[in-house]
This record gives sequence, C-alpha cells and structure tokens, in this order.
Amino acid sequence: MKTSTEKKKALSGVKPTGRVHIGNYFGAMRQFVEMQEEFQMHVFVVDYHAMTTVQDAEKLRDEVSNLILDYLAIGLDPEKTILFKQSDIPELTELTWMFNCLVTVPWLERAHAFKDRTAKGIEASVGLFDYPVLMAADILLPGTDVVPVGKDQIQHIEMARDIAGRFNHLLGEHFVLPEAVVGKEGSILKGLDGRKMSKSYNNTIPLFDTEKKLQKGINKIKTNLLEPGEAKDPDDSVVFDIYKAFSTPEQAAQMRQNFLDGIAWGEAKKELFTLVNGQLSDSREKYLELMANPAHVEDILQAGAAKARARAGAMISDLRNAVGLVNFK
Ligand code: TRP
Repeated sequence: MKTSTEKKKALSGVKPTGRVHIGNYFGAMRQFVEMQEEFQMHVFVVDYHAMTTVQDAEKLRDEVSNLILDYLAIGLDPEKTILFKQSDIPELTELTWMFNCLVTVPWLERAHAFKDRTAKGIEASVGLFDYPVLMAADILLPGTDVVPVGKDQIQHIEMARDIAGRFNHLLGEHFVLPEAVVGKEGSILKGLDGRKMSKSYNNTIPLFDTEKKLQKGINKIKTNLLEPGEAKDPDDSVVFDIYKAFSTPEQAAQMRQNFLDGIAWGEAKKELFTLVNGQLSDSREKYLELMANPAHVEDILQAGAAKARARAGAMISDLRNAVGLVNFK
C-alpha cells in the first residue's frame, strides 16, 4: 500500500516521429510538465520501439536526441521527473521475453497497430508484432499506477493489464495493474490548413524553429477573404484556435472581441506571432543551450537511467526467481 505522502507513479513512453510541433506540445507534452508536481513521473524515449519502424541509424539517433532536447527545453525537470532512454534499461528486453512466453499469437494478432499494417498488405516484422508486449514491460517493470495516453493507446494499456493479470495468476503476484488516463479531447490543435495539426498533413508549426520560420509558418495559416472591419468568426479560425491555446483566458476573450470587431487578418497574425514567439523564446534558448552541451544531456540521461534501473534490477531478480531460472546462491 502507498502511504499518503508517496506520490503515485505515472509513466509515459514517447515515440520519436520527426520534429515536434505545437500540436504535439498542447496535445501531450505540456501535460507531462504539469503532472510532474503531482506524480512521480517517468518519461522515456522509446528507442527500442522506434526500431520497429526506423532502420536508419543516423535517423534514429537524430530523432531520439531531438526528442530528449525537446522535453528538457519545454521544462521537464530531471530533478522531479525520471527521464531516460528505453534502451538504457536492458531489463525491459528480458521482461519482454518472459511475457512473450505467456501470451499467444492469436491474442497478439488482435492488436490494432498490427491489424492495420496487415490490412494494408504490409508484412509486420516480429518486432512490430511484439510491440504491445515490450510496451507492457515498459509499464509493468517500474510498477506504474497511471499511464497518460491518447485514445489510440487504450488497447495497449488493456493488453498490459491482461499480461500483468496472467503473470500474477500463474507465477505469483508481482505486478500492479496500471490505469490509463486519457487526455482531454479539447487539446487537439488545428493546423495551417484548418485540418487537425499533424505531420502527415504537412500543416504543422514546429515547436522549436527560428523566429523567421515561425513568422513564415503563421503567415501561411489559411484565412478567408473578409476585409479589415468585417466581423470574423473566431470559432472558425485557425489563427484564433492557436492564439487561444497559448493565451490566458483574458487575452483570448480580448482577441475574440477583436475578431468580432473586424480585426484585419494581417494584424491578427502579427499578434499571434508576438504571443507565440514570446512564450517559446525561453524554451528555444534552452534548446540551443542543451544542443551546445551534449555531455550535460548525457549526464541527465544516465542519472535518469540509474534511477530507473535501481528498481528494474531488483524486480528482474525476483522475476527470474518467480519463473524458475536457477540461481545457486
Ligand atoms: N505506444 C506508445 C505511442 O505510440 C509509446 C509507448 C511505448 C508508451 N511504451 C509506452 C506509452 C509505455 C506509454 C507507456 O505513443
């Protein structure tokens, strides 16, 4: 049982998928920074998982490094959050093997990601097929209480719970059953063209770009032909949508009024740029600082890995014993 002073453990694996954009920031990243006060947060970059789709060493290294810098730059605090790379915890692969021996092929065939691949006629690698089992190991090894996720990941959490239950039933109670916490729906940001901001639509505003590129991106936001002085609908505008995400409620209320009063598109975009740029400039600076100091970043990761491994090592020796691997000592 947890004492009331002990924080609940929350854990999230983040997947490198190219440069992060402001939609990622409002969708999930920012939530982790907020959660680090209430929970003992674990955030790790899932480089083992990324290997299921990236077979290009340089690309993998770049994407993983960028993502680590992104999270540090937005304010994930390594004093509060245990931040590490998945591949620094090799115990995870050992646990994956133990779990692999408890699950069946037809059961894994039910996973959405695998079914989608197969439906498209793509032959999944064994690694991709096994994705949910590695993810279960990620979650279960540290004894996670809650996993903040998007809707698309709920099935994976259910699979982790199933695996935990099966292990506990067959080999003794070792695992906590994790709960999924689904993020708020309202946090999906619109992209430049009005569709959901997403890398696959090529309509994103990168989180850490130069001021110039940020300005260019904002200028590209699609608007309509309404003239200055004509009332504009804030609820049907990407400019307002993004403004609202970055502003205080008071600023948003003021901008809403400006829209109704017929602010010119050029003016609205200028205000949007000033707001966004002002809020990102500290993080952008931090990002550049970290980039110039890779040894410091590595120290942070190693310290995070050491904390994660302290528990992982103890758990794995219990589990080795539980499954019947011999240890004469
Ligand atoms: N599958 C998750 C995603 O695509 C990434 C992930 C891997 C994860 N391991 C995890 C998320 C453990 C939460 C907990 O986003």
